[in-house]
Amino acid sequence: MRDESPSRTAAWVAAARGMGELLPPEARLVEDPYGSAFSKLHAQIERLRPLASTRMLQQWILYMQVRTRVIDDFLRAWVAGGGRQLVLLGAGYDCRALRMPELADARVFEVDHPATQHRKQRVLAQIHAESPAEYVTWDFETRAMDDLPDVLEEAGLDRTKPVFTIWEGVTMYLTDAAIDASLRAIRAWSAPGSRLAMTYFTKARIEQPTLATRALKAIVATFGEPWRFGWVPDQLPAYLEARGFRLEKDIALATAARELLPPAYAELVAREGRHFSLAAPEAIGLAS
Ligand SMILES: C[S@@+](CC[C@H](N)C(=O)[O-])C[C@H]1O[C@@H](n2cnc3c(N)ncnc32)[C@H](O)[C@@H]1O
Repeated sequence: MRDESPSRTAAWVAAARGMGELLPPEARLVEDPYGSAFSKLHAQIERLRPLASTRMLQQWILYMQVRTRVIDDFLRAWVAGGGRQLVLLGAGYDCRALRMPELADARVFEVDHPATQHRKQRVLAQIHAESPAEYVTWDFETRAMDDLPDVLEEAGLDRTKPVFTIWEGVTMYLTDAAIDASLRAIRAWSAPGSRLAMTYFTKARIEQPTLATRALKAIVATFGEPWRFGWVPDQLPAYLEARGFRLEKDIALATAARELLPPAYAELVAREGRHFSLAAPEAIGLAS
């Protein structure tokens, strides 16, 4: 990320969540009334309505509907089991703390780059939305991830209690070393009963992109947020196990889309390359 600029990809994905309201009711999986506030969209949403049926925009909105819903469902199930602490690692303009009533009794910690986080606070103040989240300012590139568990604890995280960590839309922007350091840090704040929900791109999507994906890859690189990292799905269980996590679920976008959306909409996003995973820190394994 460029030093002083708030993340543009965070604004993009938030806008896509906000644009969910442009979909026909049968294709809507989540509502994010805050998403469009982080771009100029909120003033123009009605003008975009005719465009929402164009294939490219619809694919983008539907992808975000599925991604958000899968993670919301993972989180809801965990909260229903009694979990009360959430860490959003690379929170961006994720407004789960505001939009999910299930989190009313939970503590939410949002970790992100100072530039993105300051913009989030400014925009939420402008629309008079008061988020209950604790903001933990962090630059993954300049600060040692090994220090983050202690900083979260200082911010109020109880490391003796389970934590649900969401690492959504972030892994693809990190280096191998940053992925490793982040998993080590997540494990260090994850008491038994904790879970990690993350999204990732397959290695093939990063290394052999299709023509359309190549264009997108080039655009995000011009924002100073190049895609760097992907996993081979078959190798993910062993990769996580070596770092003290057991993979519980690994769901390809196409599979989730077919489960959640009517067939005609599911087919629009039934492409390879994007996954949603849920992992548990192992009770025995690496020292934390
Ligand atoms: C694509 S956004 C995803 C945001 C959010 N998780 C979501 O899904 O809406 C990537 C996020 O990673 C954050 N990020 C990227 N590089 C970072 C860095 N060096 N330090 C801290 N945060 C960073 C950005 O600020 C941004 O919020």
